[in-house]
Amino acid sequence: MLNKLKQDAFKKIEEAKTLKEMEAFYRQYLGRKGELSRFLRSLGDFPEKERKEKGKLANQIKEELSKLIEKKKKEFQTSGFKVQSEDKLDITAPGLKLPQGHLHPMTLVQRKVEEIFQGMGFLVADGPEIETEYYNFNALNIPQNHPARDLWDTFWLKDAPLLLRTHTSPVQVRYMEKHSPALRIIVPGRCFRHEATDTTHEAVFHQVEGLMVDKDVSVGNFKAVIEGFLKQFFGPDTKMRLRPSYFPFVEPGFEIDIKRKQGDWLELMGAGMVHPNVFKSVGYKANRWQGFAFGFGLERLTMIKYGIDNIRLFFDNDLRFLKQF
Ligand code: DAH
Repeated sequence: MLNKLKQDAFKKIEEAKTLKEMEAFYRQYLGRKGELSRFLRSLGDFPEKERKEKGKLANQIKEELSKLIEKKKKEFQTSGFKVQSEDKLDITAPGLKLPQGHLHPMTLVQRKVEEIFQGMGFLVADGPEIETEYYNFNALNIPQNHPARDLWDTFWLKDAPLLLRTHTSPVQVRYMEKHSPALRIIVPGRCFRHEATDTTHEAVFHQVEGLMVDKDVSVGNFKAVIEGFLKQFFGPDTKMRLRPSYFPFVEPGFEIDIKRKQGDWLELMGAGMVHPNVFKSVGYKANRWQGFAFGFGLERLTMIKYGIDNIRLFFDNDLRFLKQF
């Protein structure tokens, strides 16, 4: 009787096609009311000698069966097919989707910004993150001891007159030194400031610098370029305004705000007409050339675009955040 049970059980289990079938077999043989379990409970009815022999054999079978069932179950679970309920394999069912990587929201936004400005004839340039005092400050009309240096909380490198650039503006100077006008560039890049962090400030962040130099460049040209950019980036109904402001490397200087859905204005970037002293420091004739420059934070732009309220999310690498893009 035991040997027959063993044969039947092994055969059925080998032939099982679904996880559900396997679970049914488990119940049929090894469950509390299963055939083998009931047999083991009835051992007491046998004479002692028989009881010993049969008990030993039944326990052996029980062990073998459990192992086999476990093994088969695992095979089903890892085979990649959804087998838990249906008896047949549906070959028309869509395949399993493998998780796919994608770009970080900041990268997405940087690429979009580059694409829009390239469409308006701007080239993408870059420069070093470790800067000299000259490029970060002096050449931008911010001499030593000028109070405007307080605007930038600088990380200085030990034992060298070097610093981590506080903005992307030094690349204006580097680029103009190497190229003659007319020119149009944008400079996306990493910047560093020695300041307390909060939900909108990080010590490491990204800016996009812009510079256009030509014979007759006016504030009107600047407005057209920036309005064009903002409308392509945020949508055709985007409203912007210029507000007077001060940056040492431009004159006049202004800040650009955009109107939020809630109706209030949000500061987005600094800008202005390139200061004659900056042209002088790169050897351009200040009375022959005119230009505008602007600079904005890439994190800020990304936060506005996607409604993100904490800048730290960009660096945390929390998949729950990153998977949304
Ligand atoms: N470099 C400025 C900053 O980090 C931003 C800026 C303002 C850039 C005005 C410009 C500009 O090119 O014209 O705060």
